[in-house]
Amino acid sequence: MDHLNTKKKVAVFISGRGSNLKSLIKHSKKINSKYKIELVLSNKKSAKGLFYAKKNKIKNFAIEGKLQLFEKKSLNLLKKHKIKILCLAGFMRVLSKNFLNKTKIPVINIHPSLLPKLKGLNTHERAIKLRHKYSGCSVHFVNEKLDSGKIILQKKVKILKKDTPKTLAKKILKLEHVAYSEALNLII
Ligand code: GRF
Repeated sequence: MDHLNTKKKVAVFISGRGSNLKSLIKHSKKINSKYKIELVLSNKKSAKGLFYAKKNKIKNFAIEGKLQLFEKKSLNLLKKHKIKILCLAGFMRVLSKNFLNKTKIPVINIHPSLLPKLKGLNTHERAIKLRHKYSGCSVHFVNEKLDSGKIILQKKVKILKKDTPKTLAKKILKLEHVAYSEALNLII
């Protein structure tokens, strides 16, 4: 059991579906994985992703209400559980500068575009509308500006003529599920 204790403790913040959380948990169980998902926090009680935390017996909390309250409570939980890295996975709030300064640990995020292209929401619709040839996903460090921190890793896919926002989202989500744990293992 010794190797389990040497794995870096990771927390994941979610707001919804949680498919990236699910894949992070799956990859964390691999023998060569350097991390362990220790804590899952959601800003929504209804987030489907909380199911994956419960199913895998990972400590999980939903903290609803103002961002300030979420940040205060989550800072305490990060400290209490000795979390070493924070992953945002479909977390739909922009964390404050104050929170990021106080965490003192790396905070990373996954975004469904080839940053710096297409920051923000509705990336797949915009990629198609703008006739981009490629899109993909980026795992990056989080700073106080939206989708703007240093990029750790990107995966690219060709946009086909027949692609719709839905088919493109599906292709990119598959890449996301590989990219996130790869990036995490890379920075540890
Ligand atoms: C993903 O596309 C991620 O890149 C973006 O939000 C979506 C979250 O999906 N930030 P899920 O909740 O992980 O299934």
